[in-house]
Amino acid sequence: MTQRKGIILAGGSGTRLYPITMGVSKQLLPVYDKPMVYYPLTVLMLAGIREICVITTPEDQAQFQRTLGDGSQWGISLTYIEQPSPDGLAQAYLLARDFLDGAPSAMVLGDNVFFGHGLPELLAEADARTTGGTVFGYRVSDPERYGVVDYDAAGRVTQIIEKPQKAPSPYAVTGLYFLDGTAPERAATVTPSDRGELEITSLLETYLEDGLLDVRRMGRGYAWLDTGTHGSLLDAGNFVRTLVQRQGLQIGNPDEIAYEAGWVGRDEIEARAKAFGKNDYGAYLRRLLD
Ligand code: TTP
Repeated sequence: MTQRKGIILAGGSGTRLYPITMGVSKQLLPVYDKPMVYYPLTVLMLAGIREICVITTPEDQAQFQRTLGDGSQWGISLTYIEQPSPDGLAQAYLLARDFLDGAPSAMVLGDNVFFGHGLPELLAEADARTTGGTVFGYRVSDPERYGVVDYDAAGRVTQIIEKPQKAPSPYAVTGLYFLDGTAPERAATVTPSDRGELEITSLLETYLEDGLLDVRRMGRGYAWLDTGTHGSLLDAGNFVRTLVQRQGLQIGNPDEIAYEAGWVGRDEIEARAKAFGKNDYGAYLRRLLD
């Protein structure tokens, strides 16, 4: 079986966060103690994925490279791909076609934060499914803002509707998509929507039509936060801070995940801790080693 590869989609225009995002990518803004992109990155790492491409706007690419490097510090490989203009989520598969080279993928949106007990197991199940796709339905109070799952009386998924006026269910599709190696060729058949974007829901629709889409429920034990507005960004930061302060354990720390997975050893973490000096991040890495 070909190893699944990862995509972090971190372009977009971030207009809802203007004027903050006029000069900096949304996905590099802080969510409490880390850059936002650490959270989706570590979701892919928890799924065991070590070959990841980061899709950004051309203007922001250098800052992402400064922030994340080539991934070797975490025993992973990061490749950078430009998205010249924000033409939709499904475009990621066209941009990443050569990178994927036929491999199955897991794509995560750069502004999505996932947290919950059992997340690695949920990801492992999705990873194990090599044909077709797996996405996650999460109950939200404002489904109209998202792609919404429509179920028939028997509980089967009949369609996914992008930003419906009236949501057929409270289940939104989260920004995490496990798709098989056919995703780029399927994405090539998608035509732009009325708002001019290659919609991820149109791509998912092709899987659904072929009976190849598994929509898993992500239950109430999970947090799925998006950080696209001023309020939700602050909420996500406060959520992370509350947990970190209470437990003394970090969320979304790629050094910790790489160390636990055995992708880097003690020496590497020691060197990283030294480089961070006396700050909280460095202190946390030193505690990991104790
Ligand atoms: P959105 O939040 O839908 O869009 P945005 O980030 O451009 O923000 P706004 O609506 O405020 O203008 O995007 C969801 C995620 O997908 C976000 O992480 C940015 C990313 N994205 C891309 O990388 N390329 C794209 O073409 C689009 C539409 C989004």
